[in-house]
Amino acid sequence: MFDERRFDILSPEFHANPFTTLDRMRTEGPVVRLRLPIVGRTWLAASHESCAELLKNSQDFARDPANAGSRTQERILKVLPRTLGLLASNMLGHDDPEHRRLRALVDDAFQRRTIAALKPTIVEMADRLLDKLDGKPEADLMTEFCRDLPLSIICAMLGLPEKDHDRFKNWLGGLKDTANVFAVIRAIPGVISVVRYLRRVSRPGGGARREGLIAALREAEIEGQTLSEDEIVSMMFLLFGAGQETTTHLISGGLYALLTNRDQLSRLRQDPGLMPTCIEECLRYVSPVQMTKPRFATRDLIWQGRQFRRGEMFAAFLAAANCDPARFEQPHTFDITRHPNPHLSFGTGLHFCLGFQLARAEASIGIQRILDRFPDLRLARRLEDTKWHKRLGIRALARLPVRLAA
Ligand code: HEM
Repeated sequence: MFDERRFDILSPEFHANPFTTLDRMRTEGPVVRLRLPIVGRTWLAASHESCAELLKNSQDFARDPANAGSRTQERILKVLPRTLGLLASNMLGHDDPEHRRLRALVDDAFQRRTIAALKPTIVEMADRLLDKLDGKPEADLMTEFCRDLPLSIICAMLGLPEKDHDRFKNWLGGLKDTANVFAVIRAIPGVISVVRYLRRVSRPGGGARREGLIAALREAEIEGQTLSEDEIVSMMFLLFGAGQETTTHLISGGLYALLTNRDQLSRLRQDPGLMPTCIEECLRYVSPVQMTKPRFATRDLIWQGRQFRRGEMFAAFLAAANCDPARFEQPHTFDITRHPNPHLSFGTGLHFCLGFQLARAEASIGIQRILDRFPDLRLARRLEDTKWHKRLGIRALARLPVRLAA
């Protein structure tokens, strides 16, 4: 019999130091069984190889449970209010050919807003947030920088009016603890407000800026195929969901890693050319998205030396893959010169992250601007005072209190 709760992957203690648990998990084998809150019984891929195989094999492991013989999700979606049902059926939840159709349309619209064109906006928004910290001896970089930057960038990229950005923060702010069913229920009114707003703004004359992604999504067309209004709203919500918190915790976790590994911080200050490898190492070491969305076995199969039944649920535990000693030398060491760095933080396969270049640009510009502005930056409290959220699948600092000046 399995003790299905033997690995604690939710608690603040786990997030403060995940390596011990992840190493122990991997000694049990490349795939381990756990019971997760809300999600239920799941097989977690825990090695680099098993994670990559799970995500690349979309024939045997589907995203949509209906393709693995389960109708439960379909039935739940039918009874949910239309607004919420709409959000649950985005491209990250679909398999091909539906996924391919949606991804091609959004890729087309996304490519037209190249990351190079967005960089000046990222610099400007980062500087504007940092201006507010001028003259302060201390600050909580989480609330005053790391949360705001990715949100402002997604709003700008979509072309939403700037006066609405704060409303978003309040609406989406409720959805922090996705492992707690009551927290999820409490967040529903905010989510409904966001959807109503996005629907309004996505219509012609709804206030979205001409050069933003919303307008591009409306115009996207491949071989006569276009996106419906529901699909545009669902796509925008996915971009907020997938792009905001993830990048927030890459920037905050990356800064925390640098501030607690001061030799690495000094190297970066001496040689800012190390920023690209530093960001890759932050992605690996922090692993802000610890776990992918679930996959479902489409048939009975033998995989990684085990027998599995059709319909069984799996997820790739990216945080475990990213410290697998079979792929990384000294995986517990934060080394900003690490190269190559084949981390799986953006996933792999069909659902490989759409926003990987944007996330890299935001993190490198955000971290660089902070370091340039505050040469004496250090953590304000003792290490053990740092608080991590209780979260499933996201490694999230609750606060990042720093001293800005010596
Ligand atoms: C540090 C920042 C980020 C990390 C670590 C991250 C990580 C991931 C991962 C692991 C997946 C795959 C999930 C799965 O297979 O179940 C994914 C998918 C996705 N990400 Fe990101 N992401 C980040 C930032 C962003 C940004 C900034 C955007 C866009 C604004 C974005 C948009 C998406 C979308 C749309 C998907 C779904 C792709 C598909 O289904 O084809 N992400 N991301």
